[in-house]
Amino acid sequence: MVLPDRIWLETFRRRLRGWYARHARDLPWRRSRDPYAVWISEIMLQQTQVATVKPYFERFLAAFPTIADLAGADEHDVLRLWEGLGYYRRARQLHRAAQVIVGEHQGEFPRDSEAVRQLPGIGRYTAGAILSIAFDARQPILEANTVRLFARLLAYRGQPASSKGTRLLWAMAEAVLPRRNVGLFNQALMELGSEVCAPRSPACERCPVASLCRARAEGAQDGIPLPKPRPVFQSRREVAVVVRRRGRVLLMRCPEGERWAGLWDFPRFEVHSEDASALAGEIVEKTARRVGVRIALGERLTSIRHGVTRFRITLDCYAARHLAGPNGDRGLPQMQWLRPDELSEYPLSTTGRKLSKLVRGE
Ligand code: ADE
Repeated sequence: MVLPDRIWLETFRRRLRGWYARHARDLPWRRSRDPYAVWISEIMLQQTQVATVKPYFERFLAAFPTIADLAGADEHDVLRLWEGLGYYRRARQLHRAAQVIVGEHQGEFPRDSEAVRQLPGIGRYTAGAILSIAFDARQPILEANTVRLFARLLAYRGQPASSKGTRLLWAMAEAVLPRRNVGLFNQALMELGSEVCAPRSPACERCPVASLCRARAEGAQDGIPLPKPRPVFQSRREVAVVVRRRGRVLLMRCPEGERWAGLWDFPRFEVHSEDASALAGEIVEKTARRVGVRIALGERLTSIRHGVTRFRITLDCYAARHLAGPNGDRGLPQMQWLRPDELSEYPLSTTGRKLSKLVRGE
């Protein structure tokens, strides 16, 4: 597939700039070109909507105004501020990257693209976004909004995530770059993708570059880009137990390498038993294995349905009374017996937070 020629590119840039000057949204991270603020916003905006990110971004920067503040923070506090945004690995990588910047770059966000790409959690897109927006470096970006925009402009009918698609779309992202004001231009691309070239029913009648769009010329904008292959969902049953001992409840820190590493949670595990008495036995046994505690199982408190990656999970939550343990330290996770009012200080998963509210009678 051929990329557009020089005349097309010049017309495209001119119209996009003109449109963005009139339609740019006022977003909190657009008020600053501090690379640290740009970086935080771009990490939060991966896999998360603008409207969700706004309040998190503001709280995060208020709590950690500089890279040094973030580097010196407790991971616990970083995760607590991230709670509800999901994909918690992003927060831990952000924290580690801040420590690398303090250790290896004197606390200054690096300007060199190789150095930026070496930071935990920063790939080609994020590096391009930060370097172009903060320093006006001539770096391309490609994320969900621009993938859709470029696929339509080129009428690319293949799978954007294929290696051929990725190569083509990155080449397009480079070809469209202007010489100056690259950061502004990259944001205009994302804005057009997000606000006009929407996934469903793109607003071609409001689009400043509709006459340049090959998909539009072919009437193919609704079928481009090809949808991602649908993930195959897997059902899964899990149980969480609220183990009580003298007015406190047992929480464990999710171990490294597992889902929600670094967050705190009620002891939780997958279950398979069908009938009630076998299930009760399984819960008692798995609680002992998970946290080394013997329990008397109580009533079922609630049932929560939720999704994590490809799993569709039904989480049954049970009350339990502590009988003994934990004894021995055979690789048990870190644990705390907490008063219900202390639960708000601990970073929990979304379902863990729901259950904690139930425990607190909220
Ligand atoms: N999505 C990812 N980065 C963005 C940005 N800087 N502005 C708007 N939407 C985005």
